[in-house]
Amino acid sequence: MITMPKPVVAAIVAMLAASVYVQVAAAEVDASRGEAIGAGCLACHGIEDFRNADPPYRVPKLGGQAATYLVNALQGYRNGARSHPIMSAQAKSLTEQQIEDVAAYLAGLGSVAVTAGGSDGSAPAAARTCAACHGQNGISLSPTWPTLAGQHEDYLVYALEQYRDGKRKNGVMMPVGGMLSDADIEVLARYYAGLEGLETTTKD
Ligand code: HEC
Ligand code: HEC
Repeated sequence: MITMPKPVVAAIVAMLAASVYVQVAAAEVDASRGEAIGAGCLACHGIEDFRNADPPYRVPKLGGQAATYLVNALQGYRNGARSHPIMSAQAKSLTEQQIEDVAAYLAGLGSVAVTAGGSDGSAPAAARTCAACHGQNGISLSPTWPTLAGQHEDYLVYALEQYRDGKRKNGVMMPVGGMLSDADIEVLARYYAGLEGLETTTKD
């Protein structure tokens, strides 16, 4: 066994501890840092029934979406899987750390209805396959998948058309969208929008 003088051992231990600390600090998600960024987001996402300019669907509700999904969505705008001029610009202006922080902040505002478990609607036949991921009540079963319950109907229609047309790129949802007719999309969007769930994110 090699024996090192005590001060050397102490120095190595201190060095290791410092490097571990730095790594942890850099990866730590901080919702309070995300609050300052989030204020800008709420200028659109915090206004009930605020509309996208063209086409004029309503800005999606975020209250009740999990942080993991919010991060995925923002990365999608950044890497081109999703295209929307304003959201792409927003996402590209943020660092990876800021995306994590603002997602934690927005997810922390939550939704009372999602936390309470939502409502049970009578699901149309077209929703049978969706439940495996998006839940029986439209509340997602994993934080990587979006909750659909309570989302704006016109945004849901727009999102499903985007997958069907290959404009929003996702390996899971493009084939799902490809199987849906216009009538299916209409029925599904109305059904999910009518369930209790997502809320327009507000600070209070
Ligand atoms: C000028 C209005 C506006 C601002 C400001 C804005 N958003 Fe958006 N956001 C939108 C619109 C419109 C969409 C829907 C875009 C689309 O069709 O993909 C969207 C979509 C999103 C989505 C995807 C939601 C989903 O269900 O997939 C997330 C996440 C999001 N925004 C987060 C943010 C964050 C975080 C900020 C602040 C850094 C922000 N937004 C700022 C208008 C805005
Ligand atoms: C195997 C799991 C799975 C199944 C089954 C599934 N989805 Fe999805 N869904 C996802 C994932 C993952 C995303 C996020 C994809 C992305 O990042 O664009 C998503 C996104 C969506 C979105 C966009 C939500 C938003 O906030 O932008 C809608 C709408 C949607 N799904 C509807 C449906 C419908 C309707 C069905 C059934 C016909 C269905 N999904 C079946 C996994 C699934």
